[in-house]
Amino acid sequence: MSIKEQILSLFENQKGVYFSGEEIANQLSVSRTAVWKAVKSLKQEGYRIDAVANKGYCLSTESDILSAQGIGKYLDGDCGCIQLDVMTSVTSTNTLAREKAQAGAAEGYTIVASEQTQGRGRKGRSFFSPADTGIYMSLVLRPERCTGEKASRMTSMAAVAVSEAIEAVSGVEAGIKWVNDIFVGGKKVCGILTEAAIGLEEGYVEYAILGIGVNVLPPKNDFPQELEPIAGTVFHEAESDCKNRLAAEILNRFMKYYSGSRNYVEAYKQRSIALGREVQVITPNGQRKAKALDLDEECRLLVQYEDGTTEYLFSGEISIKLSE
Ligand code: BTN
Repeated sequence: MSIKEQILSLFENQKGVYFSGEEIANQLSVSRTAVWKAVKSLKQEGYRIDAVANKGYCLSTESDILSAQGIGKYLDGDCGCIQLDVMTSVTSTNTLAREKAQAGAAEGYTIVASEQTQGRGRKGRSFFSPADTGIYMSLVLRPERCTGEKASRMTSMAAVAVSEAIEAVSGVEAGIKWVNDIFVGGKKVCGILTEAAIGLEEGYVEYAILGIGVNVLPPKNDFPQELEPIAGTVFHEAESDCKNRLAAEILNRFMKYYSGSRNYVEAYKQRSIALGREVQVITPNGQRKAKALDLDEECRLLVQYEDGTTEYLFSGEISIKLSE
């Protein structure tokens, strides 16, 4: 760890507490000039650090910049394999994670960014990823003997993990709109994009990239007009450590489901906002009215069309009138 990273770790673990330059220098066995330079550099990156004569330096309790130190302090024992790489602005965390996976990155390698300039959504859509108000992250996963079909379980596990994490951190209720959108107050606050590379010989997943994008706070310049009616945020205004903590809580919960120590299907069902409702099944040939009846062990959605026929939907999209 660099001097700057070590100081950030110290500050993140005790926000609002003053450390004298001498104290930090002694603790890290570096010069006071090195401490001063590192603090200056952190300030330039946007960290709110107060410097008071005779007291020293202190990271403001309101500081909430995504960082490995800020997220790391909330990770629990199930996240032993998580290796965080936190960046300010990237094209797409999924694209970068895929490059890393191709180059051999181990399971658990996780890229987190405060902004994406080319965020990607499902079906070739873009994902609005403005600076400093969201969490954009992608995990490299290497499940053993996993077929492409089974890989979709990871998306369902992530949907449960995100909705639970949102509730734990913000106290607001979060539901899952099949198959992988998280809704708060009738608006989408999170999208999940899982991409997998399948080995041609065995037909197993070589690696999967689990990409999660959460709108944590209102974007500084609002959502684009076309997203305004459908996109929402977890918080209306910043709360202490909300981004770092939410990112960590998502990882904590996801790893519990992924390692198999907790079953996700029942939790998914309980959070599903589609079950029991009239939905429109969106197909390449148009929309078809149906009722969402049940979810199976693979989180496939059982629907019944108006003519009485039923079908298990494996992937795809539905729309729900949330006011019904
Ligand atoms: C969707 O709702 O269509 C899925 C959106 C997935 C967005 C996330 S943000 C992190 C990761 N990087 C991307 O480019 N996309 C995913």
